[in-house]
Amino acid sequence: MSLSPGNTAWPANAGQAVGSEDIASDAGGVLLSIARLVKRFGAVEALSGVDLEVPAGQVTALIGDNGAGKSTLIKTVSGIWEPDAGQIRWAGEPVRIRSPKDASALGIATVYQDLALCDNLDIVQNMFLGREYTEYRLLDETKMEREAKATLSDLSVTTVRSIRQAVGSLSGGQRQAVAVARAVMQNARLVIMDEPTAALGVAQTAMVLELIRTLRSRGIAVLLISHNLNDVFAVADRLAVLYLGRIAAAGPVSEFDTQSAVYAITTGTRRESSAEHSETA
Ligand SMILES: Nc1ncnc2c1ncn2[C@@H]1O[C@H](COP(=O)(O)OP(=O)(O)OP(=O)(O)O)[C@@H](O)[C@H]1O
Ligand SMILES: [Mg+2]
Repeated sequence: MSLSPGNTAWPANAGQAVGSEDIASDAGGVLLSIARLVKRFGAVEALSGVDLEVPAGQVTALIGDNGAGKSTLIKTVSGIWEPDAGQIRWAGEPVRIRSPKDASALGIATVYQDLALCDNLDIVQNMFLGREYTEYRLLDETKMEREAKATLSDLSVTTVRSIRQAVGSLSGGQRQAVAVARAVMQNARLVIMDEPTAALGVAQTAMVLELIRTLRSRGIAVLLISHNLNDVFAVADRLAVLYLGRIAAAGPVSEFDTQSAVYAITTGTRRESSAEHSETA
């Protein structure tokens, strides 16, 4: 699916250095492919030519120091910001993602740290917000309850007492679960999570990590932003390190350990001893 197949680059892209061999062959397992993405806020260049590939059905962790550009990158993919230059491909097709609606039409669901759930509404209401089932112009509560329950149990979310519970009364981990369940119900093929465990305790973190594994086992790709390297090494298949708006290192998680990840986060370069070639900032 493509929003604008004919559009291969943004106008501001003209005159940029080209190195596109790496994205030419992305039809295989690559779901999302980002090339030379630039985003400026006035004089601040938050993204300075980001290249990133997110394979289908895998967990890709995006790590980097404060201000590296992680949130800006996912907001650009989620349709909140339009990039100033660069290209995004979805399943091999060039796309423009100009609004969150465009992103969700492609199958990209983003779970922001503040989650954007309505505390005063219950779980079912939150999961169907804006997409309620109706019958004879009345809400079809039974159908929505049934689907909400099925989705939560499919994701092995068992700690929620009642799906008619107000979301404001849930724990942080349970709120994450509701937000992810909502994404799954929208047939997401990629779920992006910005610091999902930052405010969570040990048990709730374990629950969210399990949820991420469940998404992967359903063939859904996850792009996980996290400062917690324990979480990252626990669930990620691939790692990408962002440093001052550029990808400093990227590859299978097996190519990294905590030390080399921290090294890339803090220096923006990959250790020479690494197996793969480095892509320095
Ligand atoms: N709306 C905005 N207006 C102006 N500058 C912004 C805006 N959003 C982000 N920036 C700047 O862009 C850069 C990247 O910020 P971003 O929030 O993407 O970093 P981050 O990697 O998510 O950091 P953190 O780990 O602290 O969440 C920073 O220098 C930040 O000040
Ligand atoms: Mg951020």
